[in-house]
Amino acid sequence: MVVQNLVTNAVEAFDAGGGRIEITVEQLSDWVQVKISDNGPGIPEEIRDRFFEAFVTQEKQGGTGLGTAIAKSIIDAHGGQIIVKNFK
Ligand SMILES: Nc1ncnc2c1ncn2[C@@H]1O[C@H](COP(=O)(O)OP(=O)(O)OP(=O)(O)O)[C@@H](O)[C@H]1O
Ligand SMILES: [Mg+2]
Repeated sequence: MVVQNLVTNAVEAFDAGGGRIEITVEQLSDWVQVKISDNGPGIPEEIRDRFFEAFVTQEKQGGTGLGTAIAKSIIDAHGGQIIVKNFK
């Protein structure tokens, strides 16, 4: 559910141009770290600070803005941690 959500976001951000999504899983001491990255346009600057808030959506027809909020609530409920990084 979480992975599907984030992968779908990446695909939507490619906007028919296609791109590359990389998922890596790494065992750290007390954690399993799952990274999902893409080479799309990056997170729009206007929403970077509110990325995990509900109803924050940008440049998308019919987006609810709930995807990342739900992903965070699932990770939080399992005692995990979710962060977003932008390199563009
Ligand atoms: N991988 C990504 N690359 C670029 N922008 C992204 C990426 N993931 C999310 N975003 C941006 O963050 C916003 C919020 O994402 P979120 O999944 O919460 O909502 P949504 O995708 O707009 O709506 P829904 O998930 O209901 O379809 C998106 O509208 C998009 O602008
Ligand atoms: Mg989404």
